[in-house]
Amino acid sequence: MITLEAVHKSFGPKRVLRGVDLTIPKGESMVIIGGSGTGKSVMLKSVLGLVTPDQGKISVDGQDVTHAQIGRDRDAFLARFGMLFQGGALFDSLTVWQNVAFRLLRGSLKRPKAEAREIAIEKLRRVGLTPDVADLFPSELSGGMQKRVGLARAIAAEPEIIFFDEPTTGLDPIMSGVINDLIREIVVEMGATAMTITHDMTSVRAIADKVAMLHDGVIKWTGPIAQMDESGDPYLDQFIHGRAEGPIEAVR
Ligand SMILES: Nc1ncnc2c1ncn2[C@@H]1O[C@H](COP(=O)(O)OP(=O)(O)O)[C@@H](O)[C@H]1O
Ligand SMILES: [Mg+2]
Repeated sequence: MITLEAVHKSFGPKRVLRGVDLTIPKGESMVIIGGSGTGKSVMLKSVLGLVTPDQGKISVDGQDVTHAQIGRDRDAFLARFGMLFQGGALFDSLTVWQNVAFRLLRGSLKRPKAEAREIAIEKLRRVGLTPDVADLFPSELSGGMQKRVGLARAIAAEPEIIFFDEPTTGLDPIMSGVINDLIREIVVEMGATAMTITHDMTSVRAIADKVAMLHDGVIKWTGPIAQMDESGDPYLDQFIHGRAEGPIEAVR
């Protein structure tokens, strides 16, 4: 469904992606791990066309999307994706239901307002929130509830592909577990292709079919979750066990 071939991206002198190769088959859940600042979000943004690679090729469902399209094509392309942003990124000035239904209230996915609200309430219910939160504002919710709203928004338009950027950052371990389980259930039930970025190993184990580790601008290791612990790759081992000593130098 998604392929990256020899993707390079620099920002000034900083070479962030240095030849990323990755394939995410349709209906699978791929989790990308790697240290802070290694380029995980840049990789995700390059698939969405929010960042344009300097070199290489990105395809989605057989279509070359390396260079962001414009206009109607772009709208149709983005309509296939759902996205849970790092930090939630809810709109403060919109109510919960308006956040969830954001894409159903405008653009190519536009529905009548009453229908959009009904879908929002159904999606809120799917993530464990009752209809009475629909008319609250994001600031009135706890961190865990905000994540659930972000998740409801990501699935509101029933996308084929869902991206989760650090879905558990800032949550306590119990709430992280709840969100991880919810992500897994929803991805399976929707049959969606999913790409999750995280440095939380409990998320990896809960969400992944396959894992890929980004380090030094390339995918150092990729394989099924069942092979992660026996990879024999010193970089992956250091990361999954959180060791200070190893080939990955901690930036202090
Ligand atoms: N638009 C940008 N302009 C300049 N530098 C950027 C930009 N986006 C990301 N970077 C840099 O690229 C590196 C990777 O960032 P990012 O992909 O956000 O890391 P992470 O793996 O933590 O998600 C960082 O050093 C960041 O500062
Ligand atoms: Mg990031």
